[in-house]
Amino acid sequence: MTATLPLVPLPRSVSPSDGAPFLLAARTPLIAESDAAAAARRILSAATAQTLDLPTDPLPSSPAITLTHTSDIGPSGAYRLRSAVGGLEISAADAPGLAAGLHTLTQLLEPVTDGWEVPALLIADTPRFAYRGLMLDVARHFFPVDDVCAVIDRAASLKLTHLHLHLTDDQAWRLELQAHPALTDAASASAVGGDPGGFYTREDYERIVAYAADRHLTVVPEIDLPGHTHAVGLAYPHLAADPVVTPQLAAEAAARGEALPAAGTPYTGLGVGFSSLRLDDEATFDFVADVLGELARLTPGPYLHLGGDEAFGTAPEEYDAFLSRVTQLVADLGKVPITWHDAGRADVAPETIGQYWGLTTPDSEAAEAAQAFVHRAGGVILSPADAVYLDMKYDDDTPRGLTWANGPTSVRRAYEWEPASLVDGITDDDIVGVEAAVWTETIDDLVGLDAMMFPRLAAAAEAAWSAPLGSDPDRSWESFRRRVGGLGPLWRRQGIAFHPDGRIPWAKG
Ligand code: ACM
Repeated sequence: MTATLPLVPLPRSVSPSDGAPFLLAARTPLIAESDAAAAARRILSAATAQTLDLPTDPLPSSPAITLTHTSDIGPSGAYRLRSAVGGLEISAADAPGLAAGLHTLTQLLEPVTDGWEVPALLIADTPRFAYRGLMLDVARHFFPVDDVCAVIDRAASLKLTHLHLHLTDDQAWRLELQAHPALTDAASASAVGGDPGGFYTREDYERIVAYAADRHLTVVPEIDLPGHTHAVGLAYPHLAADPVVTPQLAAEAAARGEALPAAGTPYTGLGVGFSSLRLDDEATFDFVADVLGELARLTPGPYLHLGGDEAFGTAPEEYDAFLSRVTQLVADLGKVPITWHDAGRADVAPETIGQYWGLTTPDSEAAEAAQAFVHRAGGVILSPADAVYLDMKYDDDTPRGLTWANGPTSVRRAYEWEPASLVDGITDDDIVGVEAAVWTETIDDLVGLDAMMFPRLAAAAEAAWSAPLGSDPDRSWESFRRRVGGLGPLWRRQGIAFHPDGRIPWAKG
C-alpha cells in the first residue's frame, strides 16, 4: 500500500484503484439491515464529530454505502471494503465483520468542503487472533460506568473483542454481589492514595456488558484469588490471612511514604503480594463458590478470570490445591477459566487459559508456566508486560505511570514484538490472543487512561489483528509510526486525549 493510508491495525491487503474517491456526506444513502445501519450511523457520526443521518434507501439515486452479509468471508471479524466514486460496499459474514469494516472506513475519511472523501480502493482483511483484549484495572482506581463505556468505544475502534475488568484487588472490591453485599459495603470506598472509590451495582455491570455486546466486545470479569485479596478481609476478617510484610515490602513502602498493610484497614499503597485468603478453612471455598457462581450467572460471556498472580502470601501447596479446585469449579459452572500464568505450575482444569504477563524476553520460570497451559488443552493469552502493560511510562518524563517492567515502554517497544516468537514452543495454534493491560495505580480518570493507552493500544491491536511482525514491509515500526500518526485528526474528533509522542509524525487537523 499504502503506507500513506492511516490504517491501524494493518489490513491484510489494500489495493488502491484508479478513479475518483467516494464522497460521504450527511445524507449519503445507506443500503443495510436496521442493526447494521444503526451501527454505521453511530460509528461514522462519532468519527466525523457530526450527526450523519445516512437515510436508509434500498433504491438510492446517489452513490450509497452498502453493508452486505455474505457467507464467503471468514473468520468472525473479517470483511471486504470496496470504495469507488459510484458507491462504497462493506461485506462480511457477521456483524463484527461489518463493524470492523466500518472502523476501517473511519480511518480513511479525508475532510473536504462538502463532506468526507474515501479513496478508491479494495481492502480484504481478516484477523490473526480471535481474542483481542484490553484489561482495565478498576480496583486501584474506580472508573464510573460512562468511562468504562468510553474505553469500550476506544477498544472497538481498534477491532478489539474482549474487555477484561480487573474488579478486585487489595485496595477494593468493585462489584456488588447479591449474596455478599458486605464486600462492596465495607471494601469499595477507597482507592490508591486514599482517593475516592466506588463500585458497580449488578445493574451497572449489566449495562457495561450490554454496551460492550452492542460493540461486539465480550466482558471478561476477574476476581483475583487467592492473593490480591486484602479487601475481602474488610468485609470478612475470618476469610483473610494476616498480611505478610516482607523486608522488601516494608522498604518499598517506607521509600514511598506509605503505611504498611494492616488487617481490617483499607490498603491504599502500591505494594503487592502480601495478602491471601485463608485456604485452610472450608469457609473460604464456600465463599469463593458463592462469588464465582453469582458472577457466572451475571456474565453472558464464556470466560471467568481468577487471577492467581503474585500470591506470595499463600503457601505453595495450598496455592496449587486451591487453583486446581477453583478452576474446576469454574469449568463446572460452564465457563472457561483464565488465570495469570503463575498458575501454570498448578494442576489446573485442562481447559484453563493462561495469561502470560512476563517480559518479551521470558525468564525460564515464566516460560515454563506459560508452556504448561499449552501442554494441557487451554492455550495462552499474551500480555508481555514490557510491551503491552500500558501503565508503564513512555519515557522518564511521562507524568503518570510506573517503570517496573524493564523501565519505560516506548511506543516502538510496544510495537516491535512478535507473538509467535515470545515464548519457546508457543506458536499461533497455542495463542488464544493478545491483550493489552492498563493497571491504574497512577491513573485516575479517562484523560489519564487515554494518555497511557494511545497510541500504544494501537500497537497492541496490530499485534493481535495483523499478520506477523516483518511479514510485510508495512508490518514494521517505520510504517506503523507513519500510519498511527495519520490517526491524530480522527482521534481528536473522537475526543481521545492521546499522548502526542515525539517520535510519531502526527498529522495536523
Ligand atoms: C500482574 O501484573 N500481576 C498480572
